[in-house]
Amino acid sequence: MEPAKLLPFSPFTAPNFSSDLGSLVAAWHAEHGGGVFAHPVEPALVVTRHALLSKLSRHPNLQAQSNDDRATGPSADGALARVFSHHPLFHNQPQHKTAHRAALAIASGLGPAVLKDMAEQICGRQLNQLGDKPIIDLVHDYAVPVAALMWAQMVGVGDEYAADLGKWANAIRIPLWFQSADEQLGQADEGAANIEALIAEKSASLRAATDTNVVQLADQSLQSPGSEPLDSTGSEIVASMTFDAIDGSAGMLANMFSHLLQEEGAWDRLREDPNLADAAWMETARLSPPILGLFRSPTEDTEVDGHVFPAGTNVLMFNAAANRDPLAFAEPDRFDLDRKGPVLATFGYGPRACVGRALARTVGVVALRAFLGRYSAAELLVDEVDWGPCGLVRAVQNLPVRVTAV
Ligand code: HEM
Repeated sequence: MEPAKLLPFSPFTAPNFSSDLGSLVAAWHAEHGGGVFAHPVEPALVVTRHALLSKLSRHPNLQAQSNDDRATGPSADGALARVFSHHPLFHNQPQHKTAHRAALAIASGLGPAVLKDMAEQICGRQLNQLGDKPIIDLVHDYAVPVAALMWAQMVGVGDEYAADLGKWANAIRIPLWFQSADEQLGQADEGAANIEALIAEKSASLRAATDTNVVQLADQSLQSPGSEPLDSTGSEIVASMTFDAIDGSAGMLANMFSHLLQEEGAWDRLREDPNLADAAWMETARLSPPILGLFRSPTEDTEVDGHVFPAGTNVLMFNAAANRDPLAFAEPDRFDLDRKGPVLATFGYGPRACVGRALARTVGVVALRAFLGRYSAAELLVDEVDWGPCGLVRAVQNLPVRVTAV
């Protein structure tokens, strides 16, 4: 067994953590070949190697993050903790399987054709609203509204609530920053409380609605044969997923535009062949996922490839580092639209993998293709993008661009 060592530097507190993730990760891989190190700030282990992470992620002992460590400050017993108590991430087996299945019904139960059609209409409408403005912000004028409208329509609360949902979901990222003040954590609680109240208020009419909606699908899934009794209703699971759905999809879209506008030749290739939109989304998911990794914890002492993970220890599955592992991906820091390679670590693996990846991919690809159909050129108006505060969420904050209509 190789004991986890401390790295000779503290990458998590480096001021350039978000802006220079690639160099920091390359240094971890070079300094600590085994791919497990002790978290320099929290009592946890960090896993960075692709092969190890993909095995560990699927391991049946690796269940939810340990309870004690989920939230600190005002959010520990506030609305955020309450809302997240319904999220599949925080269930162990056997309840996890039931929660995961209900979450999958929410994210993809309407079917790929309906979701694609919904995304196309939302993107078209959003682009129409931008009219012939010569300068737009791709994050605030496009990525966030598209993701928020998509979720508002899917869950059936109505377009008029999309902007609020987007704002509230955005506040929930605060506990994922490496440093956050109690006052800021209070904003996350407030966001969670608002989401909880809105979805609860609408859920009675959603259940009674004649059109199928995701709250009904989740309720049906919770009552289906083989389900474990769960202390969650369909609408509570919907509320718990609002952050992932909006910030996940919007963050991917923002990060993808950021790559395409900065990587030489990428925009022109996409203009020539819009079918590359899917490759652009996947390569962004590898290099710049908006969620860098999440914690899990073994229910008993677990050994994988000679590394021991003691029961109850929190383990940060650093998916974004595994995606830049040179043992898995050649020239890992290069944005390569022709890349073929192993399955990305971005969404985890196995029975606990992300249920929203197909949805986020649909929204991302549709939104990029719609944008390419409307604008022939987009010129980034800042020299460096702002990644926001350092943390496990990493999404470009603003992308002002000068656009030229087709
Ligand atoms: C595109 C950006 C996204 C990224 C990078 C991402 C990443 C992740 C990761 C790393 C996990 C944990 C996997 C594990 O524990 O092994 C996860 C779980 C989850 N994600 Fe996502 N996600 C994204 C989008 C979404 C969306 C759009 C939704 C919902 C509509 C969603 C819903 C969930 C749920 C419910 C889980 C918990 C699954 C479970 O524990 O059974 N995610 N996601």
